[in-house]
Amino acid sequence: MNETCRLLKAHRSIRKFTGQTVPDAVVEEVLRCGQAAATSSNLQAVTVIRVRDAARREQLAALAGGQDYVASAGAFLVFCADLNRARLACESQGGTFCEDMTEHFILATVDVALAAQNCVVAAESLGLGVCYIGALRNAPQAVADLLDLPRLVYPVFGLCVGTPAQDPEVKPRLPLGAVLGEEVYPAAGMMAGIRTYDEEIRAYYRRRTGGTKDSCWSLEMKALVGREARPHMRGFLAGRGFGMK
Ligand SMILES: Cc1cc2nc3c(=O)[nH]c(=O)nc-3n(C[C@H](O)[C@H](O)[C@H](O)COP(=O)(O)O)c2cc1C
Repeated sequence: MNETCRLLKAHRSIRKFTGQTVPDAVVEEVLRCGQAAATSSNLQAVTVIRVRDAARREQLAALAGGQDYVASAGAFLVFCADLNRARLACESQGGTFCEDMTEHFILATVDVALAAQNCVVAAESLGLGVCYIGALRNAPQAVADLLDLPRLVYPVFGLCVGTPAQDPEVKPRLPLGAVLGEEVYPAAGMMAGIRTYDEEIRAYYRRRTGGTKDSCWSLEMKALVGREARPHMRGFLAGRGFGMK
């Protein structure tokens, strides 16, 4: 164990922030750390939009289903997968951008995730708290319009960053037996791992909510993957040049 491992394992999402704005120099350092992440073929398919305007922040909070920390965090960043920049470079050299490749979509989305998580770790190392906001994809076209996103750019998620005004407990994760395979897929340990985890997280939810939330991971997964999830995404992505060929 070292300081970095301790920091990584101390992560918990923060959903209450003091009103303190995150200084530009801090946001810029955090973003430089994001840029330092590995990136497929040096594609660097990430564009981050910092939203400061209060009215625009309120609109984004509403689009994200009324998550008020989108408006109240010390900084709000929208992480976009961006193939537009690569297109410009390609065309400047006489090339023709090949639209709608599934592989390009994966490259850009993975790039965003890696850069964002580097930002998260950097921010947390500076004593800040964060919360990803995937709910921007509830209304991705409205978000794209609000941020003037060109074709070949799509908002993957937002990130609230700021000084924490709460100190929640770290949320337990699945036991390694359910996520680590030796040589082959860990099928044997899977259900046992899920059951163990269900009980652990049930106890965590009870503690966190003073006994009012009585749920477990399997129930949450039923709600998550047991129904359609944002079925508008495919059409939205195709419309922006992220078809799936
Ligand atoms: C891509 C992504 C999108 C997320 N979107 C939201 C969101 O819209 N609202 C929210 O409150 N939390 C959001 N979260 C936070 C997760 O709920 C949280 O990371 C998860 O429950 C584990 O809890 P922890 O971060 O406290 O360890 C998101 C996390 C990720 C990685």
